[in-house]
Amino acid sequence: MKEQARAKARQLAQEFAQRGDATGWFEELYTQAQGNEQAIHWADMEVNPNFVEWLDRRNIQGKSKLVLVVGCGLGDDAEELARRGFEVVAFDIAPTAIAWCRQRFPQSPVVYVVADVFDPPTAWRGSFDFILEAYTLQVLPADVRSRAMTSIAGLLAIDATLLVICRGRSAEEPPGNLPWPLSTEEFDVFKGAGLRQVHFEDYFDQEEPPVRRFRVEYQRASSSES
Ligand SMILES: C[S@@+](CC[C@H](N)C(=O)[O-])C[C@H]1O[C@@H](n2cnc3c(N)ncnc32)[C@H](O)[C@@H]1O
Repeated sequence: MKEQARAKARQLAQEFAQRGDATGWFEELYTQAQGNEQAIHWADMEVNPNFVEWLDRRNIQGKSKLVLVVGCGLGDDAEELARRGFEVVAFDIAPTAIAWCRQRFPQSPVVYVVADVFDPPTAWRGSFDFILEAYTLQVLPADVRSRAMTSIAGLLAIDATLLVICRGRSAEEPPGNLPWPLSTEEFDVFKGAGLRQVHFEDYFDQEEPPVRRFRVEYQRASSSES
């Protein structure tokens, strides 16, 4: 079922790309799913283990910290952050995904918002103490990805942390099919946007077969450093 759902997503992405629309297929996929999470191949309906492992290790404190989840999908990572005491805003370009989050977690303190990473609300600029980006950059075509990265960097407050989790590849490897793994070189965009790389983890996860992942942590330099 997962492979069938992935094939459907690839087909939709291609159809929309041919019309010059890089992101319209997400809403179409969520709508066509009609509430069946099996039709959304990335929806594991549990918090991302690659994120939890990092959270447990880093032990960042939640109290009074405002955090943002980029491309939140069905909301599991956002809910985990709220459970750990963070004040959470989670956004997705697909209105159906956001409605689904609200339906799944009716008592949630998370503020779920429909928004586009390419054009986020102006009020969000420089506002967040922590930002999680997991698996959204890798489903955006390479020619627009750097724009999304710059936009995300602009939402971090001074001294704040950004965590990116994505599929990884070496520059000489072809990107292959969607999801397109990011190359190490692509991460230079964050440096150009004023972020300091704190950790770069390149590892194989626990999936079967294991997937090469990058888990990369950045900090927005304080004004005295920049
Ligand atoms: C591969 S899914 C990952 C979802 C979630 N982060 C997870 O790990 O389960 C990518 C998500 O990003 C959303 N997305 C794609 N383009 C976006 C954009 N321009 N702005 C905001 N969200 C976007 C999609 O609708 C989708 O929910």
